[in-house]
Amino acid sequence: MANYGHFDDSNREYVITRPDTPLPWLNYFGQDEFFGMATQTAGGYTFWKDAKLRRLTRYRYNNNPMDNDGRFLYVKQGKSVWNPGWKPTRTKLDAFECRHGLGYSRITGKKDGIEVEQLMFIPPGENLEVWKISVRNKTKKPQKLSLFSYVEFCFFEALNDMTNYQRTYSIGEVEIEGSAIYHKTEYRERRNHYTLFGCTRKIDGYDTSRDAFVGVHHGLHDPKAVMAGKCTNSRAFGWNPVGAQQINLSLKPGQEETFAIILAYVDQGDLPKFDSPMVMNKTKGKEILAKYSDMKVVDAAFNAVKARWESLLSIYQAPKVPNEHLQRMVNTWNQAQCMATFNLSRSASGYETGIGRGMGYRDSNQDILGFVHLLPARARQRILDIASTQLADGTCFHQYQPLTKKGNADIGGGFNDDPLWLILSTCAYIRETGDLTILNEPCGYADKPGSKDPLLHHIETSIQYTLNNRGPHALPLIGHADWNDCLNLNCHSKEPNESFQTAGDIAGSKAESVMIAGLFLYATRDLVKLYHFMGQTQDASRIQGHYDDMLKTVEEQAWDGAWYTRAFDAESKPIGSKVCKEGKIYIESQAWCVLGGAGQNNGRAKKALQAVDKYLYTPEHGCALQYPPYSTYHSELGEVSSYPPGYKENAGVFSHNNTWIHIGWTMFGEGEKALEYYLSICPSAKKDHDVYRSEPYVYAQMTASQFSPTPGEGKNSWLTGTGAWSFVVASQSILGVQPDYTGLRIDPCIPKKWKGFSVSRKFRGVTYSIEVTNPKSKSKGVKSLKIDGQKIAGNVIPLPTDGRTAVKVEVTLGA
Ligand code: BGC
Ligand code: NOJ
Repeated sequence: MANYGHFDDSNREYVITRPDTPLPWLNYFGQDEFFGMATQTAGGYTFWKDAKLRRLTRYRYNNNPMDNDGRFLYVKQGKSVWNPGWKPTRTKLDAFECRHGLGYSRITGKKDGIEVEQLMFIPPGENLEVWKISVRNKTKKPQKLSLFSYVEFCFFEALNDMTNYQRTYSIGEVEIEGSAIYHKTEYRERRNHYTLFGCTRKIDGYDTSRDAFVGVHHGLHDPKAVMAGKCTNSRAFGWNPVGAQQINLSLKPGQEETFAIILAYVDQGDLPKFDSPMVMNKTKGKEILAKYSDMKVVDAAFNAVKARWESLLSIYQAPKVPNEHLQRMVNTWNQAQCMATFNLSRSASGYETGIGRGMGYRDSNQDILGFVHLLPARARQRILDIASTQLADGTCFHQYQPLTKKGNADIGGGFNDDPLWLILSTCAYIRETGDLTILNEPCGYADKPGSKDPLLHHIETSIQYTLNNRGPHALPLIGHADWNDCLNLNCHSKEPNESFQTAGDIAGSKAESVMIAGLFLYATRDLVKLYHFMGQTQDASRIQGHYDDMLKTVEEQAWDGAWYTRAFDAESKPIGSKVCKEGKIYIESQAWCVLGGAGQNNGRAKKALQAVDKYLYTPEHGCALQYPPYSTYHSELGEVSSYPPGYKENAGVFSHNNTWIHIGWTMFGEGEKALEYYLSICPSAKKDHDVYRSEPYVYAQMTASQFSPTPGEGKNSWLTGTGAWSFVVASQSILGVQPDYTGLRIDPCIPKKWKGFSVSRKFRGVTYSIEVTNPKSKSKGVKSLKIDGQKIAGNVIPLPTDGRTAVKVEVTLGA
């Protein structure tokens, strides 16, 4: 069992100690409008706002070697050529370390007494990435070496950039001035922006033509110019412009040289575009480089990244949790993942190419659940943006582009769970902030230009949509699919050239989803509480009526005997039922019926969870999505039966839906089960990284299940709804600190042997220091709650009315 690294919890870092991890282990920079991704070997790329429409540097996905483009530094010393991040040369290093921290990565490589450190980050609020570079002579002799920097520019629109070479080979343009390279392809026509790649110290050469620097028959592992020890000062005309700079250093024994390289997205704004015909006005680029030429500014910018994260994380910290994995995930890494999913939805990661899926309607709504406490104002704006991609009849664009905020026509709508998720995100926002004004914000409908319907209208439209679109069992129609994108009950596809999700006429279809019914229960229950909080009791009872009706339908139509049926196909045959040969039990309907409050009074909810435990769960990997996997393709089921057994939606462990089961266990006070299940998918708790392969600090979308030939193998890390939901599980369901309309509700569900724990939570301007003790070894039930020494009834801490901003909360379990 190889060891690739370890957590450094006090610095909130994961330290990778060998570069050849089982897969590239990725990190993100940036939280505003500018983003970078970097692996432990400096692979990755950078973009502004939208990885499809404004990509600054190139990245070739699924390459071999994997992860072969990035922000590289080469050292040439005598005959030896190496990278501090090991790749692309893969020259053996004497020492290697990559510290992935929150919003930065620090790669340090050492060879023959020379140490090179590359610290990469994006300063808050800036559209630029900084590489602070330190070169150290650790020997007792003077040393001479050349350092080369390298990026390959992307022509901003990434899809065209990677497909349309008959055009792109002739459009590339750059300018070079001093230590800066300006990539300005298409600037001559409609673009008003360019990429700056500048060095803060004098350079001794440069290249901007890839053919000159790398060579047509060489590779990044042996770039021509580096091998020769000399850049050629090439200027790119067409083909593939790159940024490469040469810096010659003579270092005395013990000497260190520090400087920075800046990669910036520069928008000219109102500046004149040109200084003279076709000579770009570079004022802004020069200002940026001048500013960061002061290393104190670089250091201050880095400190600002760290300070910003500390301040965000201080909103929720649980410093004394008896389980180290839960503690570090909830305090650090899970929140970092929530930031990434909020910002990028499912667009750009090591697996998402940045050109396919933009922001997902259901995805982004769920991402808010784990993010809203960090920056509620941004969550508010996002909710309104999402809502305005809904159509007046209630359907929603399934995805939209972050740059344009417009729905993607090629995928369209008709995923019938989509509308309901908006209610969950909106209620979570209001519970966090108490801000009801969001409901009155006009956000209009995508197909009603100029419409000013407020958010509350969208919420009612979403409820109405589900009610209006029901099938023979009075259950909600599924449309193209529900949460499970692969349950395509209407496409009947026999044609390999079409998408499972969008093929098939859904007009007049009868296929129904029990999962959507459960989600409807959850959403309407949320809405009833919201209407009560608003004082609109009539509306509350109206929605309660819909809840009651749907609950009755679920109990009458969807109970299969030992668990909830998953769906009914286009011919109204059950899916996820004991009568099925394969796919007898699915996880999503158990989860959502339980979370929606079904099966509470008749024992079914508990039975549904027990069925999950019996058929789907293993402690090593978590719960498979269904059982048994489909061994053959079924056109009446769609993509779910297309995957080989044990992968993805065909009975892989889809971490996202596991989290709902975790919440289910906490509803029943099953603290041991909740933690055991939580740990079963927790990346920090994975023991054998050669089996798991994915990053140990963030959730992966999927782990190959017990039904696959490669159980335990994680795939598709970072951009998954697991991020947000796991944070909800750990922070609200297990540790039990739940934002509610009138105050913080305290309702932990922990293993009996935990003696207690503490949480510091900032909520609506007040810092709550919460100490939980568990003298009677219970899992659930608050026996007493003291607020600044005063005992109060119930388990909701009322908001202070006397201006107190710090409140001490003592919780004793054991009711
Ligand atoms: C995958 C799903 C994913 C969908 C997105 C499918 O092929 O299996 O997990 O949600 O594509 O379009
Ligand atoms: C990933 C998609 O982003 C998400 O929307 C979907 O719910 C899951 N796959 C399950 O299919």
